[in-house]
Amino acid sequence: MQIAIDGPASSGKSTVAKIVATKLGFIYVDTGAMYRVATVLTQKLGLDYSDEQGILAALKQADIQFKPDQAGQKVFLDNEDITLMIRTPEITNNVSQVSALAGVRTEMVARQRKIAAQGQVVMDGRDIGTTVLPTAEVKIFMVASAQERAKRRYAENTAKGIMTPLATLQAEIELRDQKDSTRVVSPLKKADDAIEIDTTQLTINEVVEAILVIVKQNM
Ligand code: DC
Repeated sequence: MQIAIDGPASSGKSTVAKIVATKLGFIYVDTGAMYRVATVLTQKLGLDYSDEQGILAALKQADIQFKPDQAGQKVFLDNEDITLMIRTPEITNNVSQVSALAGVRTEMVARQRKIAAQGQVVMDGRDIGTTVLPTAEVKIFMVASAQERAKRRYAENTAKGIMTPLATLQAEIELRDQKDSTRVVSPLKKADDAIEIDTTQLTINEVVEAILVIVKQNM
């Protein structure tokens, strides 16, 4: 079985997807983290965030690994642990540009399908239900108000010692939504057969339970 979970930034996808995958014993794939790794690679090599050919060439050479860890998963680029680096504001604010490059998406989608072919998966992102796994048995589209999502990101950041003001975070989230939804290649869009869940007023557990009910109905 394949479970696709899409939605805008900070709608709670990753947290929920990880728990659902653990409960079902499925592989969890955070595709946003993959685009973040491509952005780190771009920065490390001093390439321009719009240098499609340069980024693609670097990606093809790069050894990218995701390893399950008690706190979630660790991300390695050429054996360097970049788990924290992929969430820094510099990367967060430039990942939309890198993920909008058609060549980068083609490469990532191929990698994502290869992982999905290995077994039952829960994959979260923006284009999983529409492009990566269009035949997924369960498709969820998670949304929440921009204000609520900024509050969640603020709490996450504070725990990590990142002190960006709440209003700045909300503005960044709205800008990223706009970039992700209006890009030419695979924009953020609800698949016709996806079930929408508005998480603004829901706890993580309530969202997980709602998804598990949908999964059981489709088993
Ligand atoms: O979910 P996230 O915030 O970690 O995603 C980081 C960025 O990657 C986000 O701005 C949109 C992009 N992304 C994408 O274009 N397609 C995906 N399947 C996942 C993420």
